[in-house]
Amino acid sequence: MPKPKVEEIFDKYAKGYSSGRFAPSRFDTARVAFSFADAITWHFITKYLPKRASIRILDAGGGDGFWAQKLVELGYKTIVISDLSQGMLDEAEKRFQKLGVAHNVGFIKSDIADMKELDSDSFDFVFSQYDAVSLCLKPAKAMKELARVAKPGTYVIVSLDTKFRRVSEMVEAGLIDEVEELLKTNISYDYEFPSYNLTWEELAEYYEKAGLTVIEVVGAPVFMHQVKESILAKLEANPQIRERLLKIELDHCTNTSLVNFAGHLQMIGRKE
Ligand SMILES: C[S@@+](CC[C@H](N)C(=O)[O-])C[C@H]1O[C@@H](n2cnc3c(N)ncnc32)[C@H](O)[C@@H]1O
Repeated sequence: MPKPKVEEIFDKYAKGYSSGRFAPSRFDTARVAFSFADAITWHFITKYLPKRASIRILDAGGGDGFWAQKLVELGYKTIVISDLSQGMLDEAEKRFQKLGVAHNVGFIKSDIADMKELDSDSFDFVFSQYDAVSLCLKPAKAMKELARVAKPGTYVIVSLDTKFRRVSEMVEAGLIDEVEELLKTNISYDYEFPSYNLTWEELAEYYEKAGLTVIEVVGAPVFMHQVKESILAKLEANPQIRERLLKIELDHCTNTSLVNFAGHLQMIGRKE
């Protein structure tokens, strides 16, 4: 059976992924203000991370292990990184071989919408940051799977691309037919593969249907991706200014009237 396009492209570009070299995008999706997106995403991962370092963690669609490395550096050792792309998992393995820290990180090739390799009720913290739930094109199934493998009482944190933010980017690229399609079907083609973009209300519905109570809804970021990249680069080069800008974000990123236009949408839920 041929590989899905998304798997093929992540396999192909896995080696350059950590340095930001990825497939050329079809329109300017660069306005994500990544350093702010990462800082906000991490803020909410650590806010809900259980204190016991012996817990078992799942990083689903974990790619080359960016978040898992940060957790290992905090002392969390037992982590499963699952991903559809063997190329991304190979890069994750290399990252942990180089790390020089004892750990018990596992690498499993698995589709987030059908994680048959993983047992039910077997993880104490479950997350999937940056898009795997969108990229699998079956967000309802993916949320059910993430909930299934979580033990009762566990936090489940997902982040993915928002739907309405893309509209202006696509209009600028002259993709008006595709804007109409996105608004009808939730699908956009940022690269050569489709992605299922969601509003926070739509994602919340999938959470609830999967048996997860929504605890917090976050935009990552809600303002900084709207600032011209060249201006933001100069501002964030000054650590004091960056700290003030991050505080502005953290003070406002859970305002749901801003979240649907955010760079990324992050949602925290708990399995009851
Ligand atoms: C944008 S990358 C994010 C990687 C990592 N979570 C991070 O934040 O650095 C999206 C990842 O989702 C993976 N992916 C795409 N479709 C998937 C699926 N159906 N199941 C599991 N992983 C998938 C890709 O291979 C890729 O590693």
